[in-house]
Amino acid sequence: MEAIRLAQLKHNDKYGAVNTAAFGRAQAEQVRRFHRSFPEYSVTPLVALTNLAKSLGVRGIYVKDESKRFGLNAFKVLGGSYAIGVEVAKKLALPLEQLTYAQLTDPAVKGKLGEQTFVTATDGNHGRGVAWTANRLGQKAVVYMPKGTALERLQNIQKLGAEASITDVNYDDAVRMAQAYAEKHGGMVIQDTSWEGYEEVPLHIMQGYTTMGAELLEQLDELQVRPTHVFLQAGVGAMAGAMTGFLADYYKEERPLITIVEPLNADCIYRTAAVNDGRLHNVGGDLQSMMAGLCCGEPCSIGWQQLAAYADNFVAMPDEVAALGMRVLGNPLAGDAPIVSGESGAAGLGLAVAALREQELAWLQEALQLDTDSVIICISTEGATDVANYRKVMWEGAYSWK
Ligand SMILES: Cc1ncc(COP(=O)(O)O)c(C=O)c1O
Repeated sequence: MEAIRLAQLKHNDKYGAVNTAAFGRAQAEQVRRFHRSFPEYSVTPLVALTNLAKSLGVRGIYVKDESKRFGLNAFKVLGGSYAIGVEVAKKLALPLEQLTYAQLTDPAVKGKLGEQTFVTATDGNHGRGVAWTANRLGQKAVVYMPKGTALERLQNIQKLGAEASITDVNYDDAVRMAQAYAEKHGGMVIQDTSWEGYEEVPLHIMQGYTTMGAELLEQLDELQVRPTHVFLQAGVGAMAGAMTGFLADYYKEERPLITIVEPLNADCIYRTAAVNDGRLHNVGGDLQSMMAGLCCGEPCSIGWQQLAAYADNFVAMPDEVAALGMRVLGNPLAGDAPIVSGESGAAGLGLAVAALREQELAWLQEALQLDTDSVIICISTEGATDVANYRKVMWEGAYSWK
């Protein structure tokens, strides 16, 4: 197994002014109000893995289970739906603070809007959220997917009526294909990453993710739990950036230690942190990993600003660590509830468990400051979105640690 890499950063703002309020609790509550108006909305569970925590010698481990989000098996729809909502509200001059699902899906709105095409690239979950939202609005979605995408993920998007295809390029090049399509055919790009000159839609997508933060705070308050460590998995780093901004805004100086995890072969956030020279560092090529949702080689610029300022640890890790997370979540100790977690979903928990459990990673446990007082939060960002691979890991023991 290839070695785990770690980079650490201290608060820095060399990547631009950092506005955490854009992801803060007040903003998040507004976003959540919008999501609450969806018929599928319910708070996703925060599962206390009490016996796992005991066995690993920490005070607590809590996992938010996003497989339960809107029946779509991942958190991503929170971003696409909110960003599309904002775009529609802008076009029709509707007040954003009052925007609801019922309004958006009213046939009169479609009449006023006319035919729209939402265009995006995705490794699965984001495109499914965009296709689902377009479908509910009676609009068209065009979705590009990277080389090697599991057929199940493609079909889940096609089932929603989207024009979806698997390309022969990686995620970042698929993003450029989506842009080119929108320019040529007049579609609206709803992309879950930002670059110079394209920041407004991704900002709204990131704000959409903060519904998870608003729910999490409520759940932690109820349990009277204060986290010391939060593990967030990153593809382009938009979700991690939004949640980091949210946590930094709420906890201020007392924010938990935030650790970002990525696959070794798609470690653009890790590399940007390790070099820390004021620029973003990309990774090219096939970005091979079973953590498909994290196979992105170009950081989201506005997500990175939050991470550079407020995240503490940046880890690049092999697939075996995510597989460990999937197995621990799916086969819990007696008394703990099971969580079906996919390759990208289980990455954060996998790293926390590995650092606490594996003798050879004692250095990592120390570097992450994990000890008997630690209260760990992870987000299982997806369920089994590639069932064939899920079975390989869980039933056949693929990607085993040793
Ligand atoms: C399940 C899952 N987790 C995490 C992520 C990472 O999100 P981001 O690309 O914003 O870093 C993704 C992205 O697609 C995902 O699908």
